[in-house]
Amino acid sequence: MSDFLLFLGRFHVLALHLPIGMVILTVIVHWLARDYRKNSLQQVLPLLWACTAFSALITVILGLLHFGEGGFTGSSASAHRLWGIGFAIGTQLAWFLCVFNVTFYWRWGGWLTLVLLAAVTMTGHYGGNLTHGSTYLVEYAPEPVRNLVGAEERRASVTELSQANPWHDVVSPMLQSRCSNCHNADKQNGQLDLSSLDSLLVGGESGAVVLPGNAAGSDLYKRVTLPESHENFMPAEGKTPLTADQVAILRWWIDAGVPSETSLSALPVDVTTTALLAFELGLAPVSDIAAEDSYAVVAKGLIEQMVASGWLVRKVSQESNGLVVSINAIGQPVSREMLVLLAEAGGSIVELNLASTGMNDELLAMISEMPVLESLNLSNNGITNAGLAMVSGFLNLETINLYGNPAITDAGLAHLRGLESLASVYLWGTAVTDAGIASLQSSLDGINVQGQALPR
Ligand code: HEC
Repeated sequence: MSDFLLFLGRFHVLALHLPIGMVILTVIVHWLARDYRKNSLQQVLPLLWACTAFSALITVILGLLHFGEGGFTGSSASAHRLWGIGFAIGTQLAWFLCVFNVTFYWRWGGWLTLVLLAAVTMTGHYGGNLTHGSTYLVEYAPEPVRNLVGAEERRASVTELSQANPWHDVVSPMLQSRCSNCHNADKQNGQLDLSSLDSLLVGGESGAVVLPGNAAGSDLYKRVTLPESHENFMPAEGKTPLTADQVAILRWWIDAGVPSETSLSALPVDVTTTALLAFELGLAPVSDIAAEDSYAVVAKGLIEQMVASGWLVRKVSQESNGLVVSINAIGQPVSREMLVLLAEAGGSIVELNLASTGMNDELLAMISEMPVLESLNLSNNGITNAGLAMVSGFLNLETINLYGNPAITDAGLAHLRGLESLASVYLWGTAVTDAGIASLQSSLDGINVQGQALPR
């Protein structure tokens, strides 16, 4: 279909208000004119019906042009089209009768007006589903009403950050508010439906749009990070884009492997992301470690030196001396000088993120004194089993992320057996086997191991 026709088609969404207004006015006049005392009103009815019928016809034609854009696939789309066309035919009929068969018109016209009102309501209802998704109308409806129309149970609002579900509470609402106009079950531009995680993972016309664990390689992430003027930028058509914070959260979520049936507390969330998530959900970034503060005070000068050398340093909370440390420029390799400073503050570091910093066993040996460390992210580095032997000294460790260290095997994992506080281990992209995982699980009760072993 030519661009010009598609251009005209867009006016459907503007034009459609006219027949709605016209039919309501005409029906009101029809019922008033039934009363013999207001007989003079009858004279305007043919004109009113003509306007109604004409505007309905134009709207249907524009609608069919708009439909030609494609992407309108679901049942709401066909229902909208059928009711709309039916309504337009009905208005032509009413006009015809009103002009050529007045007796018949006054006998049956009352019924006809009711049918037309019903048809215009149905058309509008299905049209609304197309633009907002079928549960838009009842989003804030009382639960019984939602049940009646088969909407999913509304999630209770999250009150504690750690309990939030990364998909249902965080990412899905973001996509719903910014993308669902064009990517819902009924209207799938680019054949992409973002209304559920399953449909998101199915992808669109060019295949998968999200590669779990690889945001930078995911079409969906690329499209929201393009310059806004780029023709592939999403959301299209100058619709309100995601905020920079939301884009960062999206990146974190995809890189974390699109987690869904879990809570944030079970995921490796660095301190920056925690703050973003808290802000997005309107919650305080509560940290249960803040309560008991037994960390050594780190001299202000040392913290300043750390920051100057390229670390991002924050306090666990206002009241605490505990530190949360990560690299300032993501992806930048650590230097020996930086590690020397890190080791000096070792007695207070509670959370340490060394993802993609070029860490190896030798560098890890420089920071072997981390008595209060609870969360350690070593993902995407060159750590081997020998490095894990050193980690076995981090007695307070609760979470360790070893994603993307291909040299780590079962023998390395065995070094973690003595870490009694250990609750979560991330192992995607290592050479650990199922047997190795089972053996770790047998020594550490209830430990949560994420990441299946490589097939071999
Ligand atoms: C105003 C309508 C509109 C909105 C809003 C919108 N999109 Fe799109 N989207 C489109 C259209 C049209 C296409 C198909 C054309 C194209 O590929 O650029 C598309 C295609 C896509 C594709 C490629 C699908 C494939 O496999 O080719 C992705 C990914 C995508 N959109 C993501 C998003 C995301 C994420 C958002 C929300 C931030 C969003 N879109 C909001 C209209 C929209």
